[in-house]
Order: sequence, then C-alpha cells, then structure tokens
Amino acid sequence: MLSYLLVLSVIVTAEAQKIQGVQTDDSCVCKLSSSIWAFPAVRFEGVQKQLQTCEDNLLQFNKKVKDSNARLPKMELTLKNIKTRLNRFEYLDTKGLYNTLNLQQLTEEIDSIYYTAKDVNKKSPSKETTDLLKELSTARKDVENMYKNNIFNLETMKSRLRDLNNRVQTCKTIPEDFRSTCYQRIMSNISSPVVTKLNSISTSYVSGAWGREAKQGSKERFWEHWLVSGNKLGNTIRMYNSHEDFMGSKNYKDESIASSYSHQNAVQGSGTILYDNTVFYQCYGTAEICSFNITTQATKRVELAGAGINNKFPFCYYSCRDWTDIDLEADQNGVWVIYATDENHGNIVVSRLEPVSLNITHTWKTRLFKRSVTSTFMVCGVLYATRFVNTYKEEVFYAFDTTTGHEINTLSLPFEKVSAGIANINYNPVDRRLYMYNDGYLLAYNTFS
Ligand SMILES: *[C@@H]1O[C@H](CO)[C@@H](O)[C@H](O)[C@H]1NC(C)=O
Ligand SMILES: *[C@@H]1O[C@H](CO)[C@@H](O)[C@H](O)[C@H]1NC(C)=O
Ligand SMILES: *[C@@H]1O[C@H](CO)[C@@H](O)[C@H](O)[C@H]1NC(C)=O
Repeated sequence: MLSYLLVLSVIVTAEAQKIQGVQTDDSCVCKLSSSIWAFPAVRFEGVQKQLQTCEDNLLQFNKKVKDSNARLPKMELTLKNIKTRLNRFEYLDTKGLYNTLNLQQLTEEIDSIYYTAKDVNKKSPSKETTDLLKELSTARKDVENMYKNNIFNLETMKSRLRDLNNRVQTCKTIPEDFRSTCYQRIMSNISSPVVTKLNSISTSYVSGAWGREAKQGSKERFWEHWLVSGNKLGNTIRMYNSHEDFMGSKNYKDESIASSYSHQNAVQGSGTILYDNTVFYQCYGTAEICSFNITTQATKRVELAGAGINNKFPFCYYSCRDWTDIDLEADQNGVWVIYATDENHGNIVVSRLEPVSLNITHTWKTRLFKRSVTSTFMVCGVLYATRFVNTYKEEVFYAFDTTTGHEINTLSLPFEKVSAGIANINYNPVDRRLYMYNDGYLLAYNTFS
C-alpha cells in the first residue's frame, strides 16, 4: 500500500511525462522514469488526459474492489487522498513548483516581447534592436527544443526573458527629454527632515500619503490623504494652496474622490499620488489604477495585469503597513506604478503610465522581492527602494534604472524618521523633496544627486 501511494504522488507532479496507469493483480501501477526529477518542468498538453487515464483506472480498480466485496478501507482512504491531491496547483504551491508549470504563459511572453521588439525595430532600427531580435529568435528556438526534449530549465529561461524584456522596454520610444532632465542619475544624499508635522486629522490615522503637486511648472499646492476603515480605504483628499496653510492646517479644501470609502471609485491602500491636479490611486478592491481629475471630476481606470492585491504583495520589510500592494509615483517623466506579480515571483514590477489616457506604456521587471522593502519612489526614471534599519532610521539600499535596466544593490543612503512604520514615500520632481507618511507624521527631506 505504501509504494502504491508513493507512485501516485509522483504522478501528480510529473504531469508532462507519458504515464499510463496499469492495473495489475493487487494494485494500479503508473510507471515513469526517474529523470523527471531533474527537470520539474513541462508541457501542458496531454497532462490532464494522462492524469485522467490514471485516475480512471484507479476508479475502476476501486469499483472492482468494492464489487468483489473485498473490504479495503485503507485503500479507499488512499484513493480519496489522491483525488484531493489532483488539485495540482495547491500541491505545487506547497512544493514551490508553481512557477515551473507556467510554460504556456512563458511562450506567450516570448512572443509578446518579440513582437514589441519587432515593432520598435521597425520604427527606429538600431544595433540594439536587431541584436535583441536575434536573441529573441534564439530564445524561441530554445523553448521549442525544450518542448521537444522535455528538458526545461524554467528559472534560467525566465531570468533571460526578464532581461530581454527590460531591454525592449528601454528601447521603446521614450520622450526626447527623458535623459536630459536628469543629468546626474543616482541620488547621493538625503537631508534631515525639513518638515515634520502631525497629519491634520488625528494621530490614529497611521496610514496614508501626503505630498506636493508633482507636475513640472505647476503652482505650489500640498495635499494630504489618510486611510480609514482599518487603515485601508479613503475617499477624500485635503488640499492646501500654500506651505503656510499646510503647516497651520488651515484654509484647506477637502475634495471628494468618491461618495464614500466603500464606493467602487474609492481609494484602497496608501500608494496615492497627486499629479496634474489628478489623484492617481489603486481602485477599491481591484487590481486597477484609478485617476480622479479634480478639475473635471472625472474618474478613469485601467487594469494592472497580474498585480497582486489585498496584501498579497505588500511592502513588508518590518513593522509593515497593510494595503501597500500598489504604489503610485510621479517624477520628471510622468506617472509610474510599482507592484508585484506571480509571474515575476512576487518581485517588483514597475510600469510607466501615460497620465491623461492612463495607458500603460512600459513595463520593467526587477529581481527585488517586494516584501523585502519598506517603500519605493521614482526619481528621473530610477526606482529607489528603502529598508528598515531601526525605529528612527530608514535606508535607501537599492535602485533600478529604467533607462539602462541596471540594478544597484550597493546603495546606502540613510535618513531619519520619527516612528517605525512607513505607509508611503514619494518624490516630488518640482522641489526634489521626498515626502513620507510615517505613522501619522508627515515628513519631508531634501535630496541631492
Ligand atoms: C549628506 O547630508 C548631510 C546633512 O545635510 C551632511 O552632513 C553630509 O555630509 C552629507 N553627506 C554627503 C556624502 O554628502
Ligand atoms: C485634468 O483635466 C484638465 C482639464 O480638462 C486637463 O487639462 C488635464 O490634462 C487633466 N489631467 C489629467 C492627468 O487627466
Ligand atoms: C491609449 O490606448 C488606446 C487603446 O490601446 C489607444 O487607442 C490610444 O491611442 C492610446 N492613447 C495614447 C495617448 O497613447
């Protein structure tokens, strides 16, 4: 009985192999080669059928056992177990093999990168784009061979694709001033706090965001946004027309983003930003970005494909704030969104949005696990990530440059805070300050490059 169970547990994982259930006198045997353990990877086609065949044989066998009145309660239990375990995703999830099975998705991804690169190459051919196309063709052939030979190193392939994807994204049309506005690329220092103030409502509002209108050339306006209902939802943004008003918590105007905090257009989470008199945020309960234009009072939304939400991939290094799955940022180049996907193993993905149409124009994938950072912000197309040092100190330790696809893991830019928990950090390209929502305190810092 024991070996019977073992054989079957292997079948459940080795789905791509040709496995036939064969009924013998006292058991149902499914043969397979041990080589499958070397390559836990696989083709989807035929998989269900193979499983079905084996399961059918098992059921027949079970019936026979029952019909012949042979009482084998233990075997029935085993069969029940197996049926439960045929739920492969559940099983693979616990074995950490979930990702190795997304082969179909991988092929689609290669094709999508390939066609994007082809498109870019047609519009603006360069050595980089022709090289990319060559590499992508090779990658496609490699995957075909892997199919044929049933040999598949998915992790290596995924990492190769991530790199190719990032290079294609970087090659895609980028505004001409993309580089020129940011002469010195990497930030070198962060000041002591230049603003420290409690939020204007209550110390109990420990999650939210604040900042200054981020569009170049706009007049000075400050905003404050706090989350209610378990530090999760919001529907009002408080606007101040001067720094003085902000510091005195006076002459403000509360703009309503949605009619209530449980409305479908309400804000979820603390990733909110204000750009061009428009609030960009995660829409209530969905993997979508909303924009609410205060001038026109119009709400738009766009889907963020594959983004983990509802605390699936929050920022969570230490002393975590919930509802931080999706982080909106604005810099010299417009609006960005930072999130994580299953497909990228929970690592940070960064997309660039066209602010008015809300179209997603570029998407880069990093190797930085989203749960390993406290917060992120964008400066000059460079993504920065921070980590907790202690209650009163935070540190920028990582950067990802979207114009080169390079990651920098060696940064160490410490800065002070007044409390442990950080709900939001955003950079403002107009005054080059960082704005932080720190357990209900609002702090700002000067940055230097
Ligand atoms: C960073 O800024 C602090 C405070 O303004 C200053 O004391 C320090 O010397 C600066 N460090 C560097 C490397 O510029
Ligand atoms: C908001 O609306 C104003 C007025 O129509 C428009 O000029 C501006 O571009 C809009 N901004 C965004 C980000 O939608
Ligand atoms: C946004 O995307 C839509 C649909 O793909 C497209 O028709 C439109 O031209 C895009 N707008 C901009 C400004 O890129």
